[in-house]
Amino acid sequence: MDLGLAGKNVVVMGGASNIGRAISLQFAEEKANVLIGDWDEGQAQKTAADLTKHGVKGLATKADVSNWDSVQSVVKKALDELGSIDIWINNAGWAMDRLFMEKPRSEWEQEIAINYWGVINGIRAVLDHMVEKKRGSIVSIGSDAGRMGEYREAVYAGCKGGVIALTKAVAREVGRFGIRLNVVCPGLTPGRIEECGEKSLWKGEEAEVFTPEAQERAKKAYPLRKLGTPEDIANAVVFIASSRAGHITGQTLSVSGGYTMM
Ligand SMILES: NC(=O)c1ccc[n+]([C@@H]2O[C@H](COP(=O)([O-])OP(=O)(O)OC[C@H]3O[C@@H](n4cnc5c(N)ncnc54)[C@H](O)[C@@H]3O)[C@@H](O)[C@H]2O)c1
Repeated sequence: MDLGLAGKNVVVMGGASNIGRAISLQFAEEKANVLIGDWDEGQAQKTAADLTKHGVKGLATKADVSNWDSVQSVVKKALDELGSIDIWINNAGWAMDRLFMEKPRSEWEQEIAINYWGVINGIRAVLDHMVEKKRGSIVSIGSDAGRMGEYREAVYAGCKGGVIALTKAVAREVGRFGIRLNVVCPGLTPGRIEECGEKSLWKGEEAEVFTPEAQERAKKAYPLRKLGTPEDIANAVVFIASSRAGHITGQTLSVSGGYTMM
């Protein structure tokens, strides 16, 4: 199926490592131009260079999704260098796996700033342009944690639940302008170390939590008895972002081997 993405202009926030990297690459394979906004500039430049191997524009810029001015500057750069934005992906996320009662307030604040404010900033920043053009597609990466609540991920789960409700509410408001918003929720999707920059969760403390043994145990909770790959998530994102999903908005799609079914 031709997804009709050739020549489209895509921004992937948090597109440098792991899932975001796979999403960026998949758009490039579909011949879309991609600008990556990520606070890990070195890794973003590396991924952007890989995108250009598909004969498209692959650009990168340093950005912090939790900072409104920074997100606005990504929109400006995309418009200056690509001319328009057809698709915007809110992928940047951050979590620290710890029991609610054991977490320091600073970690909650970081989780809220990146996972919730980051998505609010992204959606708001790109909407002026999309409303003016009367078309656009925004996909935010949620989490099954946001659908069911997850042990040791209370505030992160709350943010991801917020992303789902925010998406539905904004989808109702801007559908009349031909703009669609959807959420894709991964289940556990381990990063490949060689495809992750220094700021990836898979290079930090989280990686110590999800040891190979812990991953084997987690598989047993998944009806398909396997964990996701970054490409599994990217496949769903690229489809739901494309015009082939043109009658789908305000929806939440889990890509998690059946971990949640709702
Ligand atoms: N991997 C999983 O198991 C899993 C499961 C459920 C949901 N998710 C969600 O999927 C998304 C991607 O996760 P991942 O595993 O690929 O994570 P990752 O840490 O490997 O990659 C996240 C990317 O976002 C960037 N980033 C983080 N904070 C940023 C900020 N403030 N500004 C700009 N860039 C920032 C990082 O540099 C990195 O490139 C996140 O939203 C995460 O919550 C992941």
